[in-house]
Amino acid sequence: MRRIIVTSALPYANGSIHLGHLVEYLQTDIWARSQKMAGNDCVYICADDSHGTPIMLKAKELGITPEELIKNTYDEHVKDFKDFQIEFDNFHTTHSDENREISERIYLALKDKGDIASKEIEQFYDDEAKMFLPDRFIKGECPKCGAKDQYGDSCEECGATYSSSEIKNPISTVTNTKPITKNTEHVFFKLSSYEKFLKKWMDDNDIQKEIKNKLSEWLSGGLVDWDITRDKPYFGFEIPGLKDKFFYVWLDAPIGYIASHKNYCDKNNQNYLDDWTEGSKTELYHFIGKDIAYFHGLFWPAMLEGAGFRKPDGVFCHGFLTIDGEKMSKSRGTFFNARTYLNHLQPDYLRYYFSSRLTNKIEDIDLNFDDFMARVNSDLVGKIINIGSRCAKFINKDFNDQLSDEIGNDGLLKSVSNKKNEIIDNYEARNYAANMRIISSLSDEVNKYLDEEKPWIKVKDESTKASVQTICSDGINAFRMIMGYLKPVLPEIAVKVENILNCESISWSNIDNCLKKHKINAFEPLITRINKESIEKMKDENMKEEAVAEDTDKITIDDFIKVDLRVAKVINAKELEDSRKLLELEVDLGDETRIIFAGIKKSYTPEQLIGKLVVVIANLKPRKMKFGVSNGMVLATQHDGDIIILQPEKDVAPGSKIS
Ligand code: 2FM
Ligand code: ZN
Repeated sequence: MRRIIVTSALPYANGSIHLGHLVEYLQTDIWARSQKMAGNDCVYICADDSHGTPIMLKAKELGITPEELIKNTYDEHVKDFKDFQIEFDNFHTTHSDENREISERIYLALKDKGDIASKEIEQFYDDEAKMFLPDRFIKGECPKCGAKDQYGDSCEECGATYSSSEIKNPISTVTNTKPITKNTEHVFFKLSSYEKFLKKWMDDNDIQKEIKNKLSEWLSGGLVDWDITRDKPYFGFEIPGLKDKFFYVWLDAPIGYIASHKNYCDKNNQNYLDDWTEGSKTELYHFIGKDIAYFHGLFWPAMLEGAGFRKPDGVFCHGFLTIDGEKMSKSRGTFFNARTYLNHLQPDYLRYYFSSRLTNKIEDIDLNFDDFMARVNSDLVGKIINIGSRCAKFINKDFNDQLSDEIGNDGLLKSVSNKKNEIIDNYEARNYAANMRIISSLSDEVNKYLDEEKPWIKVKDESTKASVQTICSDGINAFRMIMGYLKPVLPEIAVKVENILNCESISWSNIDNCLKKHKINAFEPLITRINKESIEKMKDENMKEEAVAEDTDKITIDDFIKVDLRVAKVINAKELEDSRKLLELEVDLGDETRIIFAGIKKSYTPEQLIGKLVVVIANLKPRKMKFGVSNGMVLATQHDGDIIILQPEKDVAPGSKIS
């Protein structure tokens, strides 16, 4: 018996599971289920990836703590996975005691080995949000092609990758202000010391050719040391011995595989280190998307090697999901969350459809809804599952639920059972599409046999009626094997079939035993056809969801009308002792004067302001400040780090309403 740990990439805890994610979870789940059917001790491990800046900022936006956010997301993820029949042996979170302990242990082991170096670096800093900015929170013009509105690490227009310091006119997406640069001390993992090791690891283990080529390219370009530090504020684990410095989320995320496995072992009285120490006989495989090969093919094995842990035996990459031939897109309404799908369609349809498209190649997988409906309806429902109802009907009604004690068409059953090893090998090699083709063609053979034997005619004639029991028992036995072949893909339907056929749980070792002289239960419908309306309804719901999501940051005209915007004239202005930012303004609003404290000192002297027309929010609730009460707000914008007040283009009377 093999002991195997298999993982899927950990989903971020700030978003919902979508159909793109499901390609991977279904691919891994099917693989793990096939291993379990072989009797192997296969443990399928996953967790939420719960740290990092996006999680911290999203919680802030929602007005909740990061702990609350990750708990809510965890509950949602667990339910989505369960409803898609994705059966983890353990689903944990990276924000756990186990993960803190193991992350510290690995870090300290690397430090002891001399693989951690400290250096001062210059980074973009958002002075308003008081935080250093990860590349993803900087936007600007691409240094290569000049395209506007590009992220700080890569350009979506020309595909260039660069460092955020190269980007032109950078803007912090957190506050829409121009970031400053600031120095900070960071610790780095000396990845460059592991080049030789990584070359060998890659050659000795199960890595797809395309990924090997990519890793070799990175290796021959020379590896740079990896910055594993993030400054406060950050949601993660503080680095031992360093104050206000946190582990970068990508350091503790893969360690989350070990931590979730430890959590599983603790619950099952096992010692996780037996599986993770160097030389362990346990096999370890990671299923991931092609976009995170760098982390799993370089950083992760190097970290494990440095800390004396075992390394993965294989890293299996898959491509992305496209919908009707195009990248999933929120604005086109093709970005489907798992729950939106489940509100309208059965999970089995997608499990089957993805299986019919999945190979061990890194090509993208397309979900074309017409093809989806055609394949499920004609192959799965009309051809495969239909065998069961075609045959059970006669056994239930005409033969008192009893299967024949003899086999009629041994050749047919052999031709089904002969495919067993090929099917098992294809699951192991992640060639699910090949299995779905074999299953479909075996079903054609069985249906052809039934069409030729015509049990619905023979049953009406007393001289031929008895043969119908044998014909249909052959059909049932073939059906049982075929549904066994499909069991990793359609686990719940397979269990229903086992219940109807009143047989033991199908495994790879018992699949080819035939049922003879055996009583079955009444047949029950196992699946219904997809109707186009359900797909349309799902698309409609998705469109609505997107519209709502887009609208949450918009206000209505009624909201806007509530804001009383007026022109005001600055009649007096003065500096405030003790305030670096504020000026005290006295403004004339036509029928009254007001005191407003405005944060514009950085760019204006009091003299520059006196006599100027400005725009103020006149109906803002008075705000009590250290220096007195502020009665309104002066509108201003920012440009190149300067504050610029808004002014009417022509002289207008103070108090004029703006609409
Ligand atoms: O890319 C992602 O979605 C990451 N959350 C995957 C992490 S996988 C592992 F390394 F933890
Ligand atoms: Zn560009």
